[in-house]
Amino acid sequence: MTDKLIIFDTTLRDGEQSPGASMTKEEKVRIAKALEKLRVDVIEAGFPIASVGDFEAVQAVANTVKGSVVCGLARALDKDIERAAEALKGAAQFRIHTFLATSPIHMEKKLQMAPDQVLAQAVHAVKKARRYTDDVEFSPEDAGRSEIDFLCRVIEAVIDAGARTVNIPDTVGYKLPDRFGQLMATLLERIPNSDQAIFSVHCHNDLGLAVANSLSAVMNGARQVECTINGLGERAGNAALEEVVMAIRTRKDIFPCHTDVDTTQILTCSRLVSNITGFPVQPNKAIVGANAFAHESGIHQDGILKHRQTYEIMKAEDVGWHANRMVLGKHSGRNAFRDRLKSLNIELNSEELVNAAFGRFKELADKKHEIYDEDLQALITDTLTSEHEEVKLVSLKVCSETGETPHAQITLNINGVEQSVGAKGSGPVDATFKAIEALINSQVTLLVYSVNNVTNGTDSQGEVGVRLEKEGRVVNGQGADTDIVIASAKAYLNALNKLLTVTHRQHPQVVQQV
Ligand code: KIV
Ligand code: ZN
Repeated sequence: MTDKLIIFDTTLRDGEQSPGASMTKEEKVRIAKALEKLRVDVIEAGFPIASVGDFEAVQAVANTVKGSVVCGLARALDKDIERAAEALKGAAQFRIHTFLATSPIHMEKKLQMAPDQVLAQAVHAVKKARRYTDDVEFSPEDAGRSEIDFLCRVIEAVIDAGARTVNIPDTVGYKLPDRFGQLMATLLERIPNSDQAIFSVHCHNDLGLAVANSLSAVMNGARQVECTINGLGERAGNAALEEVVMAIRTRKDIFPCHTDVDTTQILTCSRLVSNITGFPVQPNKAIVGANAFAHESGIHQDGILKHRQTYEIMKAEDVGWHANRMVLGKHSGRNAFRDRLKSLNIELNSEELVNAAFGRFKELADKKHEIYDEDLQALITDTLTSEHEEVKLVSLKVCSETGETPHAQITLNINGVEQSVGAKGSGPVDATFKAIEALINSQVTLLVYSVNNVTNGTDSQGEVGVRLEKEGRVVNGQGADTDIVIASAKAYLNALNKLLTVTHRQHPQVVQQV
């Protein structure tokens, strides 16, 4: 039997730090349940001190998830650790993850602390966290650019103080695979008490090396990898969970370890995260991209038909392609609908919501013969998000004709009052957005607009993502419909509603007061 590699998912924390990826409590719980079903070992649910909303989201995940350890992030400050412990106390098993930067540039410029002060504060934080749980993780932030002697001193001291996991972050994605592997080997060799903790890695993807660096660390003794679904995360993101897990599994001839992940759940998780955050998955993305298992060229197809392994190193069904695509249709009743939601781990917590979702399902089934799981996920996201929105779409009529300027006539329900307006634009989507703005006058900047098909075929639902910015705040919105202009209106309104409600939250790596 090989060693177990612990999979620590930080989609709900570092992933959420991607601009515009912030999630509501309900969305976080939905993703956490999918991660539990994926059988990740640890779910980092958020940074509880960031805001009341973040605290409540971590608390809700802690109270829901039973099969994975639920973790909360805390700077090395008493108030952060107390808040994390409070949010996590309802969990079946919980971990406090505390961190403090150890690189010269972070200590001098950000923390304005001397190395000895940093060491003392790290030890204090770990001891404080141990008052609440035995499961304490410490991260020397920016370990990748820290001086090795100092890094060894800090790690030895935090292990003595009770840290059971020591995470080595390449915070700025600066390391190269061989050097990062060597760093891991050196730490394990030089630190006298290294056998008393699990060594972990947390790699950012600024040079596109997050997965390679993580795997190199695993080859050199790391036994936990911190990663996110679809590689979501701060700036260029984190190591992609699906790539790490499938590399370990596919190359079990090389790696001295295994994971407990149920890989058949990977695609469902990927789609859910993309759908909720509004970050589309590029078609050529490894494992979960639409082309990852598509063999386009004639030569490849010929090879595959003769023998699958000529061009396939993994089976598509092992990561959930095909497996979870059960079909519902126009004649499917309420029970079949409920059953399918259950098997997708979706719980709607009121009869009213079930009715609303079932109504939308029936509308969709009238337009589209076969309803796949991806359609259901998009439909549920739509139902759940529109439930809390202050501004709702009531109706939309668009005229688009050769030689004529497109025109949109829209009716919105704004805080309970219906208002209508018409506007022209360079295309139907532009006209729709202008009509919305004529009523809302939000002064936002549209940063990104994207359309993807949820399933194949021209009767597919289009999933539209928009990213809006106002006064430095960035939000993503998404909407799905078989009519992409309606999907666009839904996405724009979804983002606007978030801008109206999102409150200020602290970023863990920007403010660090002692
Ligand atoms: O990238 C980083 O250093 C982090 C820490 C909080 C672990 O996200
Ligand atoms: Zn990070």
